Amino acid sequence: MKAIEIKKDLFYVGVNDRTKHLFENLWPLPQGVSYNSYLLIDEKTVLFDTVEIGYSDVFFSKLESALNGKALDYLVVNHMEPDHSGSLALLKTKYPNIEIIGNARTAEMLAGYYGITDNLKIITDGEELKTGKHTLQFHLIPMVHWPETMVTYDITEKTLFSGDAFGTFGALDGGITDTQLRPERYWDEMIRYYSNIVGKYGSPVQKAIAKLSGIEIATICATHGPMWTEKENISKVVALYDKLSKYETEPGVVIAYGSMYGHTEQMAETIASELAAQGIRDIVIHNVSVSPHSNIIRDVFKYNGLIVGCPTYNNQLYPEMEALLSKLAARGIKNRYFGYFGSFTWAGAAVKNIAAFAETSGWEVVGVPAEMKQAMNQQSRDAAVALAQAMAEKIKSDKK
Ligand code: FEO
Repeated sequence: MKAIEIKKDLFYVGVNDRTKHLFENLWPLPQGVSYNSYLLIDEKTVLFDTVEIGYSDVFFSKLESALNGKALDYLVVNHMEPDHSGSLALLKTKYPNIEIIGNARTAEMLAGYYGITDNLKIITDGEELKTGKHTLQFHLIPMVHWPETMVTYDITEKTLFSGDAFGTFGALDGGITDTQLRPERYWDEMIRYYSNIVGKYGSPVQKAIAKLSGIEIATICATHGPMWTEKENISKVVALYDKLSKYETEPGVVIAYGSMYGHTEQMAETIASELAAQGIRDIVIHNVSVSPHSNIIRDVFKYNGLIVGCPTYNNQLYPEMEALLSKLAARGIKNRYFGYFGSFTWAGAAVKNIAAFAETSGWEVVGVPAEMKQAMNQQSRDAAVALAQAMAEKIKSDKK
């Protein structure tokens, strides 16, 4: 495969993965994902990150075509997670004289993952490196998404090699830059990527955005997704990351329910109907046993209201709901209105267990939890309707 020159002296040597079902063995990839790597050809040649090991053959053929016989001088490791560092050990065997640029945390991981301890150039925050016509500047942005994470800014071209920051799920179907494709395809996948992968690290993302706010960015080269070159798209991408990392939302309600035989599902439907009757237009219902939790998390990042409900199972929470709540708790999501309901046949535990989750979530609990024994009756229907009305009232008067 040949590399593609995407900008003067800058080649795209990344790859698309449309084979893997689950990113990190957790998150579905219905539209695939790209592992982006870039090669700068200057007096010194510089590679920015590598790709997942399964795609190393394609990656090396692109890299060799871009180098066209030149030596490879530097590898900048903006992020050590193996979707980007996977081909690093192989790269070092093919280019043994390469100097690897990273920070002190990178060095520790290079040794641990790949046993690499030589030819390292350890940089500190703000340090610069002249490669010929280009000057690179390194900025540490720890915990976006790992502690060693950094970005590299090409001062000469105003290009930001941003690592996972500003990345998205979705393979690159032909076009690489935003001028060669339809950006609309990526916005929802960007929210899913952010909420699933980086969602826990809102505060570090805020620090990174503040730190980078002083630099003029003409191009964003992230490690996943399109290369952003249009002013309008760059603003949109940065604004989206800014909004998500502040846990800001749109008015709307996600209803996530578990149900074994349809009774608890009827409660969810009743709540949704009443929300609609109260004028709420953005309502998303997810069956926790069917919808990928990845999508539910994405929608919880979008909307300010969340209502969950499930049956009691083995005197505990319905397992799929327990799994979802644990994933939500791990993300430290702030500022949500939260309502809940549950059911049981002989001894209730669902509502009690969701109440315990609500306690630790820090969210504002709305309405009275609706609890149903065995099947819907007038009492449980009235409780579901009252819960929906309380949520609708909050959403309509939302100031968050
Ligand atoms: Fe794309 Fe945190 O790795």
